[in-house]
Amino acid sequence: MPKAEMLSKLLAKASHQFSGAGFQTPELDAKLLVQHITGFSSAELISKSNDIISVEQSIEFADFVERRLTHEPVHRIIGYREFYGRAFLLSDATLIPRPDTETLVEAVVELKPASVLEIGTGSGAIAISLAAELPKVEITATDISKDALETATTNALAHDVLGRIRFLEADLFAGVAGKYDLIVSNPPYIPSVEIKTLQKEVQAFDPLAALDGGKDGLDFYRAIFKDASKFLKPEGKVCVEIGLGQEDDVSRIATANGYGNVTVIKDLNQINRVIVGTLGA
Ligand SMILES: C[S@@+](CC[C@H](N)C(=O)[O-])C[C@H]1O[C@@H](n2cnc3c(N)ncnc32)[C@H](O)[C@@H]1O
Repeated sequence: MPKAEMLSKLLAKASHQFSGAGFQTPELDAKLLVQHITGFSSAELISKSNDIISVEQSIEFADFVERRLTHEPVHRIIGYREFYGRAFLLSDATLIPRPDTETLVEAVVELKPASVLEIGTGSGAIAISLAAELPKVEITATDISKDALETATTNALAHDVLGRIRFLEADLFAGVAGKYDLIVSNPPYIPSVEIKTLQKEVQAFDPLAALDGGKDGLDFYRAIFKDASKFLKPEGKVCVEIGLGQEDDVSRIATANGYGNVTVIKDLNQINRVIVGTLGA
């Protein structure tokens, strides 16, 4: 039965268990869980390290630790993830937004489009960040998952941008209308056979529809570049996130479908992460 315990001890014990389980960031995981329960900032965790947390909080923490030990990601346990400086609520139907995807947002922000279509919005992390960073942009954001769209709508409301984002339940471009300056997507891009080799945190807890990119992982790039021109203004752009080592294949798909000035952008880890192509250039 969990008992009232000193914060520092609780943190040390959980970090030790997470480290023993082979997790990559044991201290950070423990810290985020304790912060969620106590509402303390990072600085407060240090200044209040001798504080005793209540029995109720200890019980909740023990439950969180148990869940984490089954490889449930910390952000699923606490229910949200920070992305581009804002908090995004998660649900079972949404991918946890990844820091790598901030490179995609940054690339689009620099292009300053007035209208954007996002394919596969998930938690809404990309569309909402764009709407918040570009005060005049109008966005249509689609997803095949109704549940994901509900979470994205809640997030857009929380970040006060719902008035400039139209969420649409759609399979790729089905039901999409209008012409846009830019189409952005972080599509599912894991080759189907590789899904069972992913770490359990991803394989068992991210929705399959957010991961599976078909036999070679490139199905969505082929589909997006094939039809995007129908929804782009002249010289409109397509900006997509790519998986490790997909830059040559995706650049080839873009070029074959009539896109020029195809550019590859690296993420903070110097990995090729984003491809931008301009229609007809
Ligand atoms: C890799 S996740 C990206 C989620 C979010 N944009 C992000 O970057 O965190 C891909 C998203 O595409 C959605 N999706 C999968 N198949 C789709 C389809 N045929 N049409 C539209 N969206 C689809 C998934 O439900 C998922 O939300």
